[in-house]
Amino acid sequence: MIEKIDSLKQEIDSFTINSEEELEAFRLEFLSRNGKVQDMFKLMGQVPNDQKAAMGKAMNEVKNLAQERFDSAKESLSGKEAVTFGAADDISLPVTPKYTGSLHPLTRALREIKQIFLRLGFNIADGPELEDDFHNFTALNFPPDHPARDMQDTFFVKRSEENPDENLVMRTHTSPVQIRLMKDTQPPIRSIMPGRVYRNEAVTAKSYFQFNQVEGLYVDENVTLGELIETLVMFAKLMYGSDVKYRVRPSFFPFTEPSLEMDIWWNNEKGGQWLEILGAGMVDPNVFDAVDVDSETYTGFAFGMGVDRIALLRYGIDDIRTLYENDIRVLRQFK
Ligand code: PHE
Repeated sequence: MIEKIDSLKQEIDSFTINSEEELEAFRLEFLSRNGKVQDMFKLMGQVPNDQKAAMGKAMNEVKNLAQERFDSAKESLSGKEAVTFGAADDISLPVTPKYTGSLHPLTRALREIKQIFLRLGFNIADGPELEDDFHNFTALNFPPDHPARDMQDTFFVKRSEENPDENLVMRTHTSPVQIRLMKDTQPPIRSIMPGRVYRNEAVTAKSYFQFNQVEGLYVDENVTLGELIETLVMFAKLMYGSDVKYRVRPSFFPFTEPSLEMDIWWNNEKGGQWLEILGAGMVDPNVFDAVDVDSETYTGFAFGMGVDRIALLRYGIDDIRTLYENDIRVLRQFK
């Protein structure tokens, strides 16, 4: 009898309980109504009277042992669960930030500009960033002594005093692409020409030595100044909303006559000011002559807009340099 009790004790001790399932198996095996502990008590009838007290005590110890193992296993199992749950789902723990990529504000502004002009029936053309003197200046009616032809304003890659035609410059505007387009294609032409341009300028919050322009050119019979202004106003409203504050004022460029500029009201830290976003005008007949387009038959308008300034205004950036520093903390704000 005492051996049976001892072996049951060992069985209880060595039973592994590592899961809810095993805990339940333990309960059925030992503690249930048909379990081994109850079976053991049934043997009491066979115990001689003088041993009943001792056996009863030993059996009760086994029963208590089984109950204790059950209770402590149950407790540690529920404790274990709380720990796993806590580590995964404690909402007070700091999270590891996850960043998705985003488009650079210049890329976004450029895409918006392209979309607007594609809607207005323009197609897209481009040209080289390294230009010769003819395309960047001469064909665009710049007189030989124009200040833009000076080192102060232009990055010369190659400069020849004897033969200025050999000059190579980082293009100072996208207007030379107009020249290439008109040399290659007969009107009607309705294109925009996006690209990077370079100027030997002091860097300020509003200007950089390298920036982006979108040139526009529309050449056909009977293109008018009214259509130019209408197109630019339409652009401003599509870009900034119909309540945009804009103004158009007369200006001068060698390659357009008449010429104008468009300003957009810039709400910045200093309370606000007008910011010029583009130059434009009617293509000067001298330009048509330089590219062999018949200026008796055709008229045209052209514009050149600054993508960087358009982005400043569009996304509320107050310093153009921000666009080129690529500070990741800044870029992440443009989702
Ligand atoms: N190229 C001029 C500039 O960079 C802008 C312009 C383009 C003006 C086309 C008139 C027509 O300032």
